[in-house]
Amino acid sequence: MVPTKKSAVLVDGVILNGPTTDAKAGEKFVEEAWRLIMEEVVLKATDVNEKVCEWQPPEQLKQLLDLEMRDTGEPHHRLLELCRDVIRYSVKTNHPRFFNQLYAGLDYYSLVARFMTEALNPSVYTYEVSPVFLLVEEAVLKKMIEFIGWKEGDGIFNPGGSVSNMYAMNLARYKYYPDIKEKGLSGLPRLILFTSAECHYSMKKAASFLGIGTENICFVETDGRGKMIPEELEKQICQARKQGAAPFLVCATSGTTVLGAFDPLDGIADVCERHGLWLHVDASWGGSALMSRKHRRLLQGIHRADSVAWNPHKMLMAGIQCCALLVKDKSLRSLLQHLASFYAVFSLRSVPEYAN
Ligand SMILES: Cc1ncc(COP(=O)(O)O)c(C=O)c1O
Repeated sequence: MVPTKKSAVLVDGVILNGPTTDAKAGEKFVEEAWRLIMEEVVLKATDVNEKVCEWQPPEQLKQLLDLEMRDTGEPHHRLLELCRDVIRYSVKTNHPRFFNQLYAGLDYYSLVARFMTEALNPSVYTYEVSPVFLLVEEAVLKKMIEFIGWKEGDGIFNPGGSVSNMYAMNLARYKYYPDIKEKGLSGLPRLILFTSAECHYSMKKAASFLGIGTENICFVETDGRGKMIPEELEKQICQARKQGAAPFLVCATSGTTVLGAFDPLDGIADVCERHGLWLHVDASWGGSALMSRKHRRLLQGIHRADSVAWNPHKMLMAGIQCCALLVKDKSLRSLLQHLASFYAVFSLRSVPEYAN
């Protein structure tokens, strides 16, 4: 097909800056697919009289969907049929009868924000590429920091609360052992971290990924409601020190995955202060309670944490994934940057036409 976009730059007959297919037909396809999404997802999938899912076992579903990757293209009407099938056999997470800890129905505004980011296809790695989204990120992180109750702080959005927890573990380790970046694990004592028996499994994953080892996680006892017992925490820290290990991190959970328990942050922060340990709060699930006048007391003491993981996609109805790791000490901005300092250094000054 002949591309119809005007002023396409051709180099040796290859288009550098435009669609390689027929643009008019492409635009029509977007319009038709858009209508389908509106009818089948926004209107129908949120209707209580419709099914949550047209469930099929995997082998049957494979037969019903055309998933063959062919060498030739497909006509638009086939692609639209495929789109329809994708919607038809998918779980309608926006349905009023779909219950799961991640979802609470459709938020129209968050949906449109997602349409926009998908259409603009930004990558938030430099201001030049993403001026608006960079400022949006800064503003949202600032607001989250205010809700935590810190005077200042910094943060980063991650592809999951699990990643936020892993970054927090890495930051805590880097704070106490900054040589790790150059020297690796060989120069370290036996590091040990503390969390409750009800913590999210990502703590184990992170300890394993970072070379700390799952055996060096001490799972502190919880009370009958699944909350970490600060006195037990302190006992375990003293015992670990006696055994020659080096405690470096305590991870409290605000909203445990199974029981929804909120660890007593003030009591845990007291222990961390006495022992000079980094306090990370995994508020991936429960962090949004900070925005409720009635329930924010569940996170009483969160302002004393060194870092917080908070997923607005869980209770604030942002689209999946929307996960922030927030770090209290702004001087630790350099910590965040030092730790991940293999980032692209493209400044405005390096682009002469922007400099004036
Ligand atoms: C307490 C807690 N922490 C961390 C996570 C992990 O979050 P994600 O699924 O975004 O990686 C979850 C997920 O359910 C969670 O409940």
